[in-house]
Amino acid sequence: MDSIIVKGGTELHGQIHIAGAKNAALTLMPVTLLTDEPLTLTNTPRLSDIRTMAQLLSSLGAEVTALNDGRVVALSSHGLTSTRADYDIVRKMRASNLVLGPLLAREGRAVVSLPGGCAIGARPMDIHTTALEALGAEIELKDGYLHAVAKSGLKGAVVPLRFASVGATENVLMAATLAKGTTVIENAAKEPEIVDLASCLRRMGAQIEGDGTGRIEIQGVDRLSGATHPVVTDRIELGTYMLAPVIAGGEVECVGGRLDLVAAFAEKLDMAGVQVEETPVGLKVRRANGRPRAVDVVTEPFPGFPTDLQAQMMAMLCTAEGKSVLEERIFENRFMHAPELMRMGADIEVQGGTATVRGVERLKGAPVMATDLRASVSLILAGLAAEGETQVNRVYHLDRGYEHVEEKLSAVGAHIERVQGS
Ligand code: UD1
Repeated sequence: MDSIIVKGGTELHGQIHIAGAKNAALTLMPVTLLTDEPLTLTNTPRLSDIRTMAQLLSSLGAEVTALNDGRVVALSSHGLTSTRADYDIVRKMRASNLVLGPLLAREGRAVVSLPGGCAIGARPMDIHTTALEALGAEIELKDGYLHAVAKSGLKGAVVPLRFASVGATENVLMAATLAKGTTVIENAAKEPEIVDLASCLRRMGAQIEGDGTGRIEIQGVDRLSGATHPVVTDRIELGTYMLAPVIAGGEVECVGGRLDLVAAFAEKLDMAGVQVEETPVGLKVRRANGRPRAVDVVTEPFPGFPTDLQAQMMAMLCTAEGKSVLEERIFENRFMHAPELMRMGADIEVQGGTATVRGVERLKGAPVMATDLRASVSLILAGLAAEGETQVNRVYHLDRGYEHVEEKLSAVGAHIERVQGS
């Protein structure tokens, strides 16, 4: 297995280009299932999760072609052959469950494996199923698979979500575009990826209002057409690279970055004494003199501080001045990076969903283990400031969500390389 070696201690200067959002692309790709006309996505990130979704859609009979070195993905579902999302693919990536809503809407049936737990928590599917049942689907759990049928088609309804789940909002939004009548999603998730999904669906002829708020209204239509749609900027990759010069020192311009995508995060950086400046092409981040200051963080659904930036923020706070308290409210087990950071000399105490970080002057390089996607990049960030060499093992997690991380960081002066494993 590959590992990544980081030698800390160099300041970073230059530009990093931010890719299209993994989480937006993963919900935009299943949109193909809603139409028999071609859907073309541009600005797609080149990641293993995207290849997994392509594999899943192909297994359903969709045609998926990567063009322009993977920056464009052309999809067509004119001849679907299956409505079954197999465990072998779903277990690799929870976002596979995003085929459930579109398959039900287009084919009136879907059999989708339950994703099972993952490292960061149990991640059940009850919000998805309750919401689709409100649209008239009958869903049964058999042999680890959700068997969903909408015998007389889906019908619009008021769908209150008990929690503003991102995936459930996406599944219902997609399904409701082809349902009969009006659907109102109450307590909908407000993430930018949902706004991006709605804007792609509108290009295809869907009638949607209120995306980006807690109440989304969808007027069902008979059919959707094809479209070409650019994937929104990845706010999590953006936030990750914004932290790199804060941790290592220097100044980095994140090209394609937008403040509105990371407002809550940027506010915390400001409190930590970091300068973030909007430029004509993106966001420039510079650490003011000395160490950043400690700040407290609570993860929340958008527009709150994103759980997907909690691990990276913790890596930064390990060398900040003072005591920071991080509270994780989205996933029950998302501090697995803490013991790894402690192997590098960080002072962290975890109690339940709260981690207390007391900043130390310097971290020390060590061999560490990536436990999940965001945890793995937090270890790379920590390595940028650590004395000596940090070897991050199990980097396949990283390749799920960060394209060309070594190239992007080396281009701004980091000493980082990938070592091919056996
Ligand atoms: C999406 C993102 C993920 C991010 C998360 C929260 C994608 C592909 N992934 O995941 O990167 O960390 O949003 O911002 O977009 N829950 C239930 N029952 C359900 C569904 C969810 O209890 O039916 C719980 C989950 O266990 C979790 C919380 O709700 O504790 C948030 O999950 P959700 O918003 O659904 O996240 P995902 O869509 O899976």
